[in-house]
Amino acid sequence: MENNKKKILITGGAGFIGSHVVRLFVTKYPEYIIYNLDALTYAGNLENIKDLEAKGNYKFIKGDIKEGEFIRSLFKEFMFDAVVHLAAESHVDRSITHPNDFIETNVLGTANLLNAFKEIHSSSFEGKLFYHISTDEVYGSLGKTGLFTETTSYDPQSPYASSKAASDHLVRAYGNTYGMPYMISNCSNNYGANQFPEKLIPLFINNIKHSKSLPVYGDGNYTRDWLFVEDHANAIDEIFHKGKMGETYNIGGFNEWTNLNLIKLLCKLMDEKLNRTEGSSEKLITYVKDRAGHDRRYAIDATKLNQELGWKPSVTFEEGLEKTLDWYLANENWLDNVTSGSYQDYYEKMYN
Ligand code: NAD
Ligand code: DAU
Repeated sequence: MENNKKKILITGGAGFIGSHVVRLFVTKYPEYIIYNLDALTYAGNLENIKDLEAKGNYKFIKGDIKEGEFIRSLFKEFMFDAVVHLAAESHVDRSITHPNDFIETNVLGTANLLNAFKEIHSSSFEGKLFYHISTDEVYGSLGKTGLFTETTSYDPQSPYASSKAASDHLVRAYGNTYGMPYMISNCSNNYGANQFPEKLIPLFINNIKHSKSLPVYGDGNYTRDWLFVEDHANAIDEIFHKGKMGETYNIGGFNEWTNLNLIKLLCKLMDEKLNRTEGSSEKLITYVKDRAGHDRRYAIDATKLNQELGWKPSVTFEEGLEKTLDWYLANENWLDNVTSGSYQDYYEKMYN
């Protein structure tokens, strides 16, 4: 029986977004076998997908996409029908201090997956798909107006964004050169459960909880477009099943916030949740040295995805943020576990 099931490799499924995508695919599609390949870097956490361990259509594989020979033999063994590729180094600040880690995983790692997929389907790509998950950061930074569309020129500004842009180019090149069926989606800033507390929202939730200062980069008037992670996972599901081969889809929430306004909202909600005096968390705001090369504004035009595939976000920002805060407050162990050990070293180097 198992041999007839479609085999889907999801990379990076122990991370933030990947864990939501894996859960959605495993629970919604019992007719697929979902293989989750993850190296379990500092950002990968088996706790994020603990509830899936016993599912019959799910297998976890610990492995590194940088290791070309390993990837090659893995693909030969399992003959995956489709790949949903999320594994990446994902934090801009780390890309500023360790750019090569990003080039190796995001560029070389993606090339290894593409080569292995091409090799196992060299006779025919019929019914196969390589779906690459990317970011709006490949488009660079916007001025006060305008939105990124699927035809906006690439203009990546950080080592992270450049490595993701390079991986997008590689995927398109394999489509063009070898006829590999592919799709790419570029999404805006995600928030929700399981996000490593190096990123703005979980970092600030954790700091507010411990009454630690809230390090706002520069003047705080940088703008991001925020999307609830489960809505991103739903969009990936829609694109995977209904998208057109060779197409790119932008995913975003039409939900722009300056960092300062977002942080103030977060402080207000946390004061309410923790029964603290109104205004007490805002007092923790501390302006710190700006991020090098900090992109001023990102904003996604997700019209194509809405009009062609009917996708739209299912929650408002206020609803999504409330769910997110509740999750972090109810999962203190998760937060305590990931912020012990090497996290402390990272924090010291980054902020002190
Ligand atoms: P994350 O850092 O939380 O998770 C990345 C996962 O990839 C981790 O589980 C990690 O162990 C794994 N990984 C890293 N290097 C690996 C390697 N060499 N081999 C195998 N596994 C490896 O990242 P995330 O925020 O969940 O992002 C997932 C993807 O979505 C990335 O490709 C990212 O560029 C993209 N994306 C993220 C956002 C966002 O807001 N977080 C927005 C748009 C796009
Ligand atoms: O736009 C999509 C991208 O969003 C993804 O591709 C990345 O993987 C993801 O990390 C995210 O990138 P950002 O750099 O926008 O996210 P981050 O949470 O690091 O920062 C959000 C904003 O908050 C940004 O303007 C920098 C600022 N910031 C961040 C941190 C960690 C601060 O002011 N202080 C902080 O301590």
